[in-house]
Amino acid sequence: MTIKHVNTLVTIIAIVTVTACGGSGVASGPPGTEGPVPSGGAVTGKSAANLITAADITLGDIDRAMAGKGQAIYDVKCQACHSTGPNRVVGPGWKGVTERRKPEWIMNMMLNIDAMLETDPEAQKALEECLVRMPNQGLSKDEGREVLEFMRTL
Ligand code: HEC
Repeated sequence: MTIKHVNTLVTIIAIVTVTACGGSGVASGPPGTEGPVPSGGAVTGKSAANLITAADITLGDIDRAMAGKGQAIYDVKCQACHSTGPNRVVGPGWKGVTERRKPEWIMNMMLNIDAMLETDPEAQKALEECLVRMPNQGLSKDEGREVLEFMRTL
């Protein structure tokens, strides 16, 4: 093997080892994962002006029916990358997420991920840690609110 080959091999090994997010054993994301983040992060989302604010969300006692709908959405669209426990899969685990994060921040991560990754330091930090850009899941605002209700039960 020439030096050049050895260098290529080392690079490949380095790339393979950094793909897991938090050591859960998942080395790469499911279909739909966009892979390592391009520097400069292409922005396709809405502008920050459209972000949800605290005034847009009312939280009362937990609405079990709404949480059930949120769980059904989770099962289909989120489970591949998020656990309901504390552990990371591709993205962060959801246990206690409503205590760590403000409701409007969570809603914006669900509905306006591109604008969040463009403007929000916490979202950018999560992206640096996970190395995978969360794909926009195309939820409606009502669906997002149902998933938020489900998160409140975790
Ligand atoms: C392909 C993997 C993938 C899928 C599918 C996915 N996410 Fe994510 N999610 C991520 C990654 C990676 C992050 C952290 C990095 C980032 O923000 O891009 C994240 C972050 C989040 C966060 C912030 C959590 C925190 O603790 O900071 C929320 C909320 C979230 N996702 C909600 C959802 C919802 C709701 C769905 C389903 C409708 C979903 N995600 C589907 C990968 C995914």
